[in-house]
Amino acid sequence: MTKTFDFSGTNVVVTGGARGIGFQIVKDFLEAGSSVTIWDYDKDTLDASLKELSAFEGKVKGFQVDVTDVASCNEVAKSTGSVDVLINNAGITRDKSLKKMTLDDFQKVIDTNLTGLFNVTKSFLDQELFSADSGRNRIINMASVVALYGNFGQTNYVASKAGVIGMTKTWAKELGRKGFTANAIAPGFIETPMTAKMPEEVLQSIVSKVPVQRMGRPEDIAQTCMFLASEAASYINGTVISVDGGVTL
Ligand SMILES: NC(=O)c1ccc[n+]([C@@H]2O[C@H](COP(=O)([O-])OP(=O)(O)OC[C@H]3O[C@@H](n4cnc5c(N)ncnc54)[C@H](O)[C@@H]3O)[C@@H](O)[C@H]2O)c1
Repeated sequence: MTKTFDFSGTNVVVTGGARGIGFQIVKDFLEAGSSVTIWDYDKDTLDASLKELSAFEGKVKGFQVDVTDVASCNEVAKSTGSVDVLINNAGITRDKSLKKMTLDDFQKVIDTNLTGLFNVTKSFLDQELFSADSGRNRIINMASVVALYGNFGQTNYVASKAGVIGMTKTWAKELGRKGFTANAIAPGFIETPMTAKMPEEVLQSIVSKVPVQRMGRPEDIAQTCMFLASEAASYINGTVISVDGGVTL
């Protein structure tokens, strides 16, 4: 894919950046000249991803941090330092029918996918770590297309992602006057370790329903993040961009 963005001189933070969509976002911003900090709770995957990015030594760093842990978020935000673009991407699934879903299944997903975004964003805001005069303070939150339409077996996940959309719109209103934009991306079904857990026949049936007849790629989401972080998107605020090949039409 042709890379068309230049983010030289910007600091980008990507939560859940050690693999999947997050890792692709990290790679694309590094290639576009940013300094990138990865936040992820999976130490082994984080170490492996940093090794893979050794060509960007000095421009990329990583911290092992659980976004559900407020104290760790505050401490790691301080170590991360100044940020221009925050990409709240870390997320999990614990799929079960409503009948089988336990309160713990529900709570774990809400804690990571919704409260985690609150914790991370507050940790940078409260410590005034967003660069005041960059003119490019951007918050990009990873929602999901299922937040807009519901999905079987995902009461917890859909509730968390619908919450992300509401929170994004609120931040767009509150922070707009302070030089921020806040937007959400609603990916469709993207080829990552998260969807690799799904049975092959389910994946085939999803692809057959996507008008463009393929799963999404992490690059599709990473390029949308870059657009939202770019000057070209400076008047886009509080919106949800679906990147789903038209699956919900
Ligand atoms: N893959 C898809 O089809 C799809 C579709 C819609 C939305 N999304 C969303 O996109 C985001 C990325 O998805 P993915 O498919 O790349 O997932 P993934 O499981 O491949 O990667 C998620 C990353 O987040 C990290 N993470 C999870 N919980 C964390 C925590 N508490 N603290 C810190 N790090 C944590 C994991 O270690 C992992 O590296 C998620 O928010 C997901 O809900 C994905």
